[in-house]
Order: sequence, then C-alpha cells, then structure tokens
Amino acid sequence: MNESVITVAMPKGRIFGDACRLLRDAGFDLPATFESTRKLILDLASEPFRFILAKPVDVPTYVEYGAADIGIAGKDVLLESGRDVYEMVDLGISKCHMAVAGLPGHSRNHPFLKIATKYPNIASDFYRRRGEQVDLIALNGSIELAPLVGLADAIVDIVSTGQTLRENGLVEIEKLMDVSSRLIVNPVSYRLKKPVIDGIVEKMIRATEGTKVGMD
Ligand code: PRP
Repeated sequence: MNESVITVAMPKGRIFGDACRLLRDAGFDLPATFESTRKLILDLASEPFRFILAKPVDVPTYVEYGAADIGIAGKDVLLESGRDVYEMVDLGISKCHMAVAGLPGHSRNHPFLKIATKYPNIASDFYRRRGEQVDLIALNGSIELAPLVGLADAIVDIVSTGQTLRENGLVEIEKLMDVSSRLIVNPVSYRLKKPVIDGIVEKMIRATEGTKVGMD
C-alpha cells in the first residue's frame, strides 16, 4: 500500500458513467478519455490519485485486501460479498432495486421451489428470514432467462428500468430492497490516511448533495 497515493477502485460498466460524473462534480480532474480508455490503471496528472478499473462485483475485494484504498460499489454487490470494508457514503447514484420476479400468475404466497439469482447470499438470507426453504440456482447473468426455460420458478435480481422484465414477459412479485452506489473504504487505509480520506468523503458528500467543489 503506497501511503502517498490514494487508489480508487472504480466499477466498470453500468455504474461507471454515473461514478465519473460524481467524481468530476467532487473536483477530481478526470481526463476526457477516462470513460473510453481500455487501460485498467489511470493516474491523475494533477494529484496523487490512482484509479483502477475493475468489474463491479470485484470492487469490494480490491478494497478489502488494500489493493485500493477506496472504491465505488453497489449496495447489492456489497451485501452479497460480505467484504470487510467501511461503507462511508450513500452516493445516491445508479439507483435501482432488488426484487423477486417470475412469470405472471405467481402470487406473493406462491411457494417457489427454485430461485435463480446472481445474489445467492442475499436471496438465501431473504428466504431464511421468511422461513421458506428454496433451492437457489446461482447464475452469472441474463437471470431473466431462467424462468422462461424452466430452469427456475422465479428469480431474485436487480430491476432498474424494468425493461428486461417487460420484454421477457416477466412480472415483479416482491421488492427486497432499494439499491444505490456507496463509497467504501479499506479499514487500514482509513487509519493510515484518515485526513485525506475524510477530505474525499466530505467532497463526495457535497457532490452528492449537488454542490460542485474543487480539490484542494
Ligand atoms: C441487470 C439485471 C437485470 C437488468 C435490469 O443486468 O441483472 O438483468 O440489468 O435492468 P432493467 O430493469 O433496466 O432492464 P445487467 O444488464 O447488469 O447484465 P447481466 O444480465 O449480465 O447481469
């Protein structure tokens, strides 16, 4: 862990654009090519900040192990990973929710036998709390396919615009929780670099509230 540089783990993909906008609003001088480059490590010219671009699901891992001091991760990914990181700020970006969905005709009380999901830990916790025994089928994507081809009775997945459900003839049955992106911090980094990280947290909070700020 380099003590003079702050390494930020960024989630590539869907959240990336929102995260970049927020960082610019917080005063980070991200280069114009930031969103289009295929490079995985980017150093800011003006300040001692290094950005690493990871798969969203891996961001908590980079932060827990200290390969990154801070990171931006969805609440869904954070909960599912159970990684030992500090969750410092609800950034209020990339809002969506997690829900149970299935083919029309399933009621809330229908006993689902097989549930397909990218979130086996969250889904398992949800059904355990309800005292329902289900068979969880872990998939890596295109979860909506599972009930269409008889692999599962229902799914637990993220709903954003609802387009994927609609276009595949599925309906939302029950909402589990709201999801948004969070600023996470490695506990050791926080101890070693507290003043700098507190400064970043402060600027991110102000950017989240819609106030443009400049980096000191
Ligand atoms: C996510 C999620 C849903 C979809 C929901 O998948 O798992 O499939 O987005 O978005 P919508 O409500 O706006 O249609 P993602 O696109 O991340 O890809 P994946 O299927 O590979 O998980």
